[in-house]
Amino acid sequence: MRIDGRAFRTIWLGADGASVEVIDQRALPHRFALRTLRDAGDAAAAIADMTVRGAPLIGAAGAYGLALAMAADPSDANLSTAHGALLVARPTAVNLRWALDRMRARLAPLKAGERRGAAFAEAVRIADEDAGTCERLGEHGAALIAEAWERNGRSRPVDVLTHCNAGWLAAVDWGTALAPIYKAHRAGVPVHVWVDETRPRNQGASLTAYELLGEGVPHTVVVDNVGGHLMQHGRVDLCIVGTDRTTRTGDVCNKVGTYLKALAAHDNGVPFYVALPSSTVDWRVSDGVREIPIEERSADEVTFVSGETASGAIETVRVVPRGSAVSNYAFDVTPARLVTGLITERGVCAASEAGLLSLFPGEEGD
Ligand code: MRU
Repeated sequence: MRIDGRAFRTIWLGADGASVEVIDQRALPHRFALRTLRDAGDAAAAIADMTVRGAPLIGAAGAYGLALAMAADPSDANLSTAHGALLVARPTAVNLRWALDRMRARLAPLKAGERRGAAFAEAVRIADEDAGTCERLGEHGAALIAEAWERNGRSRPVDVLTHCNAGWLAAVDWGTALAPIYKAHRAGVPVHVWVDETRPRNQGASLTAYELLGEGVPHTVVVDNVGGHLMQHGRVDLCIVGTDRTTRTGDVCNKVGTYLKALAAHDNGVPFYVALPSSTVDWRVSDGVREIPIEERSADEVTFVSGETASGAIETVRVVPRGSAVSNYAFDVTPARLVTGLITERGVCAASEAGLLSLFPGEEGD
């Protein structure tokens, strides 16, 4: 997608063929900066400190990280060590395990001397496939937006509410929840996006708004708690969100606050869709609420707020009194019964085991 008119992906092999470049998402929307990853430790750190974030991108970054590890030491021992170190960089997005397991399955049977080249090739393949997958799911999701436009008699733009950032910055390209919006917008279907700011890290206000601005998609940033009000007043035609992990039964783990939007959507008869590449399905998990670990992040993310001052300086200020207890759960689980449908690269299905298996037969889990 575009930044200042230039096409970018979020991650790519460096010009030297031995390093990896990523967009440093911590600096956005104030500054556009790149970060070079030179070894597996750099890749794990970039995932952990959220230089790169979003489930599909975390997976791609893990794959490139393992390739960097193989460039340094292609031994069996290092394959296992690097796989383990990258796997624990962040706990929720299952794409990380998916990509690392795929890399290991490709590399383990090879002789050590063959691994470096094969590892970079496989990481590039994973990234390319993710871009293609997200573009395809965007096409399927765009059809839902076009249907909503027909339903309202083409009388006004389709109002879509989204939470967090599930755009191209969260993937390799296109994104998940925003891909349908980009496809619809490019096809001439008028869309307006309600962008939840998504405290505490404000991925909506900082990243989703930044992306939509770059693509020229009309949007409005709103505080996280306004969605219910907007839905009560007919201001939302459909919700589309991303997911960091989806169970085989269609439960969806996504950025904290998603569940409350789904409840409000259910109460108001607003369709609630979740967009995902199939690499985000954890076929081993059936009960999202009980089985998916929810990442708890630093209390500082809640206690302090950072932003750009009128003079252009970046400042961080405290918004919680010293002495108050603070907790910071980063994700929540939306039960499948609140999800209207899953938008995948193979089409839209019910949020259920039968629905997922109708599109991805043979995925019986471990
Ligand atoms: O903590 P983050 O920023 O890595 O959160 C992940 C997300 O971007 C969202 O949960 C997103 O909606 C799903 S990933 C496409």
